[in-house]
Amino acid sequence: MTRHLLTLLDLTPTEIAALLTRAHELKALQRQGRSPRPLVGRTLAMLFDKPSTRTRVSFEAGMAQLGGATIYLERGQTQLSRAEPLSDTARVLSRYVDAVVVRTFAQQMLEDLAAHATIPIINGLTDTHHPCQVLSDLMTVEERFGGVAGLKVAWVGDGNNVANSWITAALRLDFELHLACPPGYEPDAALLRQAQEEKRRVILDQDPVAAVSGAQVINTDVWASMGQEGEAERRKEVFRPYQVNRELLRHAPAEAIVLHCLPAHRGEEITAEVLDGPQSAAWDQAENRLHAQKALLEWLLG
Ligand code: CP
Ligand code: NVA
Repeated sequence: MTRHLLTLLDLTPTEIAALLTRAHELKALQRQGRSPRPLVGRTLAMLFDKPSTRTRVSFEAGMAQLGGATIYLERGQTQLSRAEPLSDTARVLSRYVDAVVVRTFAQQMLEDLAAHATIPIINGLTDTHHPCQVLSDLMTVEERFGGVAGLKVAWVGDGNNVANSWITAALRLDFELHLACPPGYEPDAALLRQAQEEKRRVILDQDPVAAVSGAQVINTDVWASMGQEGEAERRKEVFRPYQVNRELLRHAPAEAIVLHCLPAHRGEEITAEVLDGPQSAAWDQAENRLHAQKALLEWLLG
């Protein structure tokens, strides 16, 4: 059966643990200049509808380090932009390459591609999920605290794709996730319902102070995601009380780390002082995209 990574729910808790263990090993090996090359002769296509720095470069560099090759495809430059059906594209790409990373708007596009592909489809960000990001976030939490089990993780701000992927992580792993989001900007209702039905420790309210109190990990992200640029000014008003700043961090334990998937807007969702300060783990988090995705590629293609 072809395995895909459309959301983190495609992985079992054991698979997530194994991927993270391997990611730490690959990071250590790379530090020693001993990267394995199990993917010689394998090719990863990257079909992108939205801009990217980290996702694109970490997949391209990671694939190169593992001995494989990548092909970057801007959707507008493919025949998809001239109405070639997604199903035909999926069939043809399956004949050429070994996996496809897709960055797009609708999660349904990925589902449709996966339905017709005979190779793994990897979600490189949609409007509703960003599983590769949260794999890297979990790796960063493991580095700092030895594991996520038993921790409290806060999410402050927009209930967006990264927030949803953190909820899927809480559906698979044992930690408390406390989200503080303004009314009308909550994460996916179906995921929240699932968390409630499965008695997961996922809390949603509108109180950033309650979210960060006792939290070892504090997450935030931009107030307007890609595709929401037209709402940016309105969102700045709504989200102002949700800024991660020194005052908010005073309510969190001293050992708390701050995560931001980047790109960041200093002075909006996070202050420069916090993002560039001692509690920020954002730079390790960005680096870990490379190692976590190498583990993923090795597992899916190796
Ligand atoms: N965090 C992240 O996915 O960054 P890019 O948009 O630069 O890929
Ligand atoms: N929520 C952001 C994440 C960027 C990596 C967006 O979708 O634009």
